[in-house]
Amino acid sequence: MESSLPDLEAILLVGGQGTRLRPLTLGTPKPLLPTAGVPFLAHQLARAHAFGVRRIVFATSYKAAMFEPVFGDGSDFGLSLEYMTEETPLGTGGAIRNAAQALTSGPDAPVLILNGDILSGHDIGDQVRTHLARQAAVTLHLTEVDDPTRFGCVPTDGDGRVTAFLEKTPNPVTNRINAGCYVFTRSVIDSIPAGEVVSVERETFPGLIESGDLVLGYADRTYWLDVGTPAAFVKGSADLVLGRLASPALPGPTGEYLALPGAVVSPEAKVRAGSTVGARAVVEAGATVDGSVLGDDCVVHTGATVTDSVIGRGARVCAGAVVHDAVIGDGAVVGHGNELRAGVRIWPGVELPDCAVRYSSDV
Ligand code: GDD
Ligand code: MG
Repeated sequence: MESSLPDLEAILLVGGQGTRLRPLTLGTPKPLLPTAGVPFLAHQLARAHAFGVRRIVFATSYKAAMFEPVFGDGSDFGLSLEYMTEETPLGTGGAIRNAAQALTSGPDAPVLILNGDILSGHDIGDQVRTHLARQAAVTLHLTEVDDPTRFGCVPTDGDGRVTAFLEKTPNPVTNRINAGCYVFTRSVIDSIPAGEVVSVERETFPGLIESGDLVLGYADRTYWLDVGTPAAFVKGSADLVLGRLASPALPGPTGEYLALPGAVVSPEAKVRAGSTVGARAVVEAGATVDGSVLGDDCVVHTGATVTDSVIGRGARVCAGAVVHDAVIGDGAVVGHGNELRAGVRIWPGVELPDCAVRYSSDV
């Protein structure tokens, strides 16, 4: 991360409802979900700082009041933070326009815009320098994915000029997609209509392309993940713990698992594949936890198996239960012997009774 730029300003889009991550996002907005031991955004803030970003405006809407108590004025990150809230959600473009009122950059300066649910290893400094060298209106970070239908599909010509922006199209023309990190020339932000619901993906980008402005693609193949689904969220957390994406915000060394203060992991338990064990959480002897996020104060009892799952704060997974690719809400109890798989979500506080069948691992 050596290619930093002096004093870059950024807007961080954090107003989405995170519906695909319910029930985790019922009480906590997606950008604040504990990820590899810290609120998700801490990783983005620390990486942005490493590339020379010094001032960030949060564009908040859903659960807007929860951000400032966590990040304050940003001094813990060497950043200066501002918070701009939409009373009703204005969409990505409306949010950028609203937050821009707090920018100090002049009309020709580059401004970085970040989706608030992305882990990316790309060189932000190089993206900004490319934008400046080509005098683009907007420069979009692009990455390649197997299934572009869930993203903004972005074809480019031989010079990197974006020729179309096709948001969530069923007929993608390329696997190259919008990776959710833009450099805007400040004056282009000011041309977005104020106080209206606007989507940059469906209106601003297609409009700029249509009118012949230079919308540039900055494509690379570094680590990239949108953590907007439960499966992606646990993968992102595990990848950070394993060190697949370096994060200055990781609160401990990389390794098979990260244990937060007061966590108790039995020497006879197997905790692996980038799992995080929350503060004061307990993993008992004979339990197996792979690639999962265990919340603070939760308990995984003897002989239980937890794989690629999120276990909420204070939740319990009882003896012999199997939890695979599932989300267990805060305070919920998975009674002994239950088997939960393939995208199951248990709402906070729900108690699944013990199963009558006895397992060899039962105590
Ligand atoms: N302030 C504010 N207000 N923020 C919003 C609003 C709003 O009305 N709507 C969405 N956001 C924020 C979300 O919090 C998130 O950080 C970001 O904007 C993108 O919203 P998502 O809901 O995560 O969109 P997506 O993942 O379906 O698609 C977007 O990201 C993809 C890459 O991950 C698009 O930009 C796609 O084109 C892109 O490929
Ligand atoms: Mg997203």
